[in-house]
Amino acid sequence: MIEMKDLSLVYPNGTQGLKNINVKINKGEFVVIVGLSGAGKSTFIRSINRLVTPTEGQLFVDDEDILKYKGKDLRKLRTKVGMIFQNYNLVKRSTVMKNVISGRLGHTGTLKSILNLYSKKDMALAYESLKRVNIEEKIYSRADQLSGGQQQRVSIARVLTQQPSVVLADEPVASLDPPTSHQVMKYLKKINSEDNITTIVNLHFIDMAMEYADRIIGMRAGEIVFDGPASKVNEKTFEEIYGRPIKEDDIRGGTEENVETP
Ligand SMILES: Nc1ncnc2c1ncn2[C@@H]1O[C@H](COP(=O)(O)OP(=O)(O)OP(=O)(O)O)[C@@H](O)[C@H]1O
Ligand SMILES: [Mg+2]
Repeated sequence: MIEMKDLSLVYPNGTQGLKNINVKINKGEFVVIVGLSGAGKSTFIRSINRLVTPTEGQLFVDDEDILKYKGKDLRKLRTKVGMIFQNYNLVKRSTVMKNVISGRLGHTGTLKSILNLYSKKDMALAYESLKRVNIEEKIYSRADQLSGGQQQRVSIARVLTQQPSVVLADEPVASLDPPTSHQVMKYLKKINSEDNITTIVNLHFIDMAMEYADRIIGMRAGEIVFDGPASKVNEKTFEEIYGRPIKEDDIRGGTEENVETP
């Protein structure tokens, strides 16, 4: 359902963000992209909803080359492809409910959404989405009164309310402590399996990637240097991705069972 063919992206200043990427991601897969800072992880996922535009090759979402899209097609693409950010991107002074229902923006007319005229069905969907990430009791709280983990759950509820077929998450747990990170990863995994939403997550840490991913894509200097199941990742793969042998520091917070261990 997502296919990149000979895809490259050169930024205006000459930096090569992606270098001849060929990859196919199937409907419902949970893919984690790992790599060093600057490897091209964000460029890879931001290409899929055209926050950045590759300069060569083709990028298909549901068999349509989205590199040709502009205007209305782009808006439709961004409704179909939801996004979760490291810093949650909530409207801080708005309530949780307002933030979550804004997931309907792509489906509701502009005038109606400016006037806050959401249908009962949309409101019910927003509430249901909050329940799915167990944060419905915060529905009338202001977004900036929540903890980081709670805010990220609200942003997952917002993306659920959008009813996308693809979710992109760019370092969704980079600002969270290890137990909260695991909780957020579990919710992402849960909606992936319950709703069959294709999910692509960027992570810095390979241990967390291995715990949650069906498939890991390792990037280095704009290229894919590993693509396979977590079970195929070994020390050699780690070196290919990170350019050096694995050290203890590379394990962020261990598994959920031993997160209390300093
Ligand atoms: N808007 C931009 N203009 C110019 N160069 C850019 C731009 N955005 C990213 N780059 C460069 O493209 C390369 C890939 O960047 P990208 O942000 O995709 O990496 P990343 O793997 O997401 O890194 P990080 O882990 O730090 O988020 C880097 O060399 C980066 O400096
Ligand atoms: Mg990035």
